[in-house]
Amino acid sequence: MAALSPISSLGYMIYGVADLAKWEDFAVNILGTQVGIRNSNSLGLRLDDYEQRFLLIEDGSDDLLALGWEFDTETKLEVYVEQLRSCGVEVTAGDDATAELRRVDKLYTCLDPNGWHHEFYFSPRMVALSKRFSSPVVANGFLADELGVGHLVVIAKSAQETNNFYQQTLGLTVSDYIKGEIAPGGPVLDATFYHVGTGRHHSIAVAEAPVPQRIDHMMVQVNDLNDVGLALDRCMAANVPIRMGIGHHPNDQMTSFYMITPSGFACEYGWGGIIIDDDNWEVARYSELSDWGHKMPAMA
Ligand SMILES: [Fe+2]
Repeated sequence: MAALSPISSLGYMIYGVADLAKWEDFAVNILGTQVGIRNSNSLGLRLDDYEQRFLLIEDGSDDLLALGWEFDTETKLEVYVEQLRSCGVEVTAGDDATAELRRVDKLYTCLDPNGWHHEFYFSPRMVALSKRFSSPVVANGFLADELGVGHLVVIAKSAQETNNFYQQTLGLTVSDYIKGEIAPGGPVLDATFYHVGTGRHHSIAVAEAPVPQRIDHMMVQVNDLNDVGLALDRCMAANVPIRMGIGHHPNDQMTSFYMITPSGFACEYGWGGIIIDDDNWEVARYSELSDWGHKMPAMA
């Protein structure tokens, strides 16, 4: 039986982007997210009745700025922060302006060994009943709510150091491992997958691979397999580059494809990812990233 993480979900992601207008077009017309709160140099995006799931800040970096981990109660958040501090982690309380931009009532932040900000928050703002989520293009919506925003796969500078930090300090729970070739004969990706309390198969995975980028991909999940196919059709029609065609992962059982975002990293668009029940979960090791499909366009 795996240890239950005190974190309930990965609630939001914050990216620095070079071209906010291009991202808005991509997010609305390809991904099907809904525009939330707009500021002079930032844009909030919605997947559900949370006011914000993605925050894009136009800073030219095209990189991950922060991940937001949600807690069910203020008490759990405070206990967690005390534990981080007792482990010697420098944790800073977010000020009111920072909380406002993220649409949460209270947050703390710390850095991981890669320099990424992990934020820990309580009380996300929800929209009014009259403004419930409605996607411009996704018929049956996204799977978010208590499972959170989706997932992220990062390429760590030192996977060992990062995995130690995520397990021993942040208290993320290992879901499983995959070590396999990215493409036949290609570089080997060695990844550890992590889940938290509400059990999306993974909220973050740490990979070590001989590639230059820091973000491998982020993932959003839809409720209907047809919406995966329709998203692929939208990519084809708009000439959005495809990194890998439709395929299926052996660990999270996700059927998905991967497109390239305006920031250059990939977005997995998936359906069917499993939810982990910690009472009945066995950690497994897999030797292939996909059990069918996920071919690069030239191989498809
Ligand atoms: Fe993924």
